[in-house]
Amino acid sequence: MTALIPTTDLALDEIALGNPDTFLRDDVDGIFAKLRAERPVGFDAEQTPPGLPPGPGFWSFVRHGDMFGISRDYEAFTSVPAVGIFDYPVRTSIINMDPPVHTRYRLLVNRGFTPRMIGRLEESIGAQARRIVEDVAERGEADLVTDIAAKLPGQVIATMLGVPDEDQDMVQRHTNAFIAPSDPEYAGTVEDMVAASDAIEDYAKHLGRAKRDHPTDDVTSAIVNAEVTGADGNRATIDMDEFAEFVKLLLVGGNETTRNAITHGVRLFSEFPDQKARFLADPQGLAVTTADEILRYATPVTLMRRTATRDVEVAGTPIAAGDKVVMWYRSGNFDDAVFDDPYRFDVGRDPNPHLTFGAGGPHYCLGASLARVEIGVMLATLYQRLPDLEVTGPPVRMRAVSSHGVKHLPVRWTPA
Ligand code: HEM
Repeated sequence: MTALIPTTDLALDEIALGNPDTFLRDDVDGIFAKLRAERPVGFDAEQTPPGLPPGPGFWSFVRHGDMFGISRDYEAFTSVPAVGIFDYPVRTSIINMDPPVHTRYRLLVNRGFTPRMIGRLEESIGAQARRIVEDVAERGEADLVTDIAAKLPGQVIATMLGVPDEDQDMVQRHTNAFIAPSDPEYAGTVEDMVAASDAIEDYAKHLGRAKRDHPTDDVTSAIVNAEVTGADGNRATIDMDEFAEFVKLLLVGGNETTRNAITHGVRLFSEFPDQKARFLADPQGLAVTTADEILRYATPVTLMRRTATRDVEVAGTPIAAGDKVVMWYRSGNFDDAVFDDPYRFDVGRDPNPHLTFGAGGPHYCLGASLARVEIGVMLATLYQRLPDLEVTGPPVRMRAVSSHGVKHLPVRWTPA
C-alpha cells in the first residue's frame, strides 16, 4: 500500500520558510509537498533574529533535481559568508570556504574520516554505545535525547579530537547554544550564540597549544601541526584562530546532527514497528540501508544556503549576483520524481540518493561514514539490550530553521 502524502491547510502565501516557528508545526512535510507541486522555486522573506540587520530574503529550491547544479558549482554559488539563511557574525572554517583554499584545509582531515578509517573505529564505537546503554539500563525510563542519543556522537568526536571526558558536557552545552540561536532552551539570542562560539574556540585553542607541544594520535594533533598553503601562496602551520574554527566545526558537525538522527531513528521505529522488527532481525546486513533511510526520512540538517557570485539562471529562474539561494534538502528527500513511494519508511530502500549529507560538490559531509556507523551501532545496541523500549510522549522539537532537531523524547522499558 502506498503511504499517504502529507498535506497542509496553509495557502501558498501563508507559508513562511524563513520563520523558525514554521518548523514547530506538525505539517512541515505537507508544506514541502505543496511547494514541490505548486511552487518549486520561490522567493521567501527572512525573519531575521533580533540582533542582526534585516536580511534581504532568499530563493528557495525544493525539488531534488534543482539542487545539484547549485551545490556543485562553487564558482557561481559561494559558501562565503554563511551556509545557513542568516548571516550570523561567526565563521566556521571549511564549510565557509570555497576551493582551492577549502580543498587544502579539508585534505588535512579527510584521511581520518574515510570509510576505512571509520571501519577501524567500529569496535570502540560499539563499546562506547554499550556503556551508555548500560548506564541507564536499570532505570527503566529516560530522556532519549539527553541521556542516550547525545552521548555517543559527543563521546566519539571528543575521543577523535582528544577532548578529555571531564570537558565533554561543557563542550556539548556550547555546541547546543551555537547551533540553535533561535531556541530559548539552548541559546535564545545572537549574543548567546557568539558567546558560545567564542567559548568553543577558546577551548579549542587551549587544546591546540597542548597538542602542538605534545602531539598525540588524534585529529587535533594532526591539524595543529600540519602545514598548509594559505591564500597568499605561503606554506605555514595553521594559524591558531583558523585551527580553533576548524575544531569548532568538527565538534558542532559531529554532535547535534547525529544525536538528532539517532533520536529520529527511535521515533520512526516506534511509528513503524514492522521496520524496527525487520532491522533487528538483521542489524548487520541492514545497518547501512537503515541508517540511510533514517537520514532521508528525518533530514537532520534541513537546508544549506549559498550566495550567487554573479547573475545566473537555475531551473529557468534568473538569480542576481549577491542573492541568497537555499537548497531545502528536507523537501528534496521526499521528491517522488526520485523516490518511489517517498513517504514509505523502508529500511531496505536501495538505491537511496538522499540529500541529507549534501547535494554533491566539495562540501559533501566529511562525517557521513562516521554518522552512518554511529546510527546503526546505537540503534542495534539499544534494542538488543532494552528490547521493549517504547516512546511514551511526543518529541519536543527544536525551534530552528536549519536543524530538524529534537530536544527531548521520553522513553520507557522494563528495567534490566
Ligand atoms: C546525521 C549526521 C550528519 C548530518 C545530517 C550532516 C550533514 C551535513 C551537511 C548537510 C553538510 C554540508 C553539505 C554541503 O554543503 O553540501 C555537512 C558538512 C560537514 N559535516 Fe556533516 N553531517 C552529519 C554528521 C557529521 C559528523 C559525524 C561529522 C564529524 C566530524 C561531520 C562533519 C562535517 C564537516 C566538517 C562538514 C563540512 C565539510 C566541508 O565543508 O567540506 N558531520 N554535514
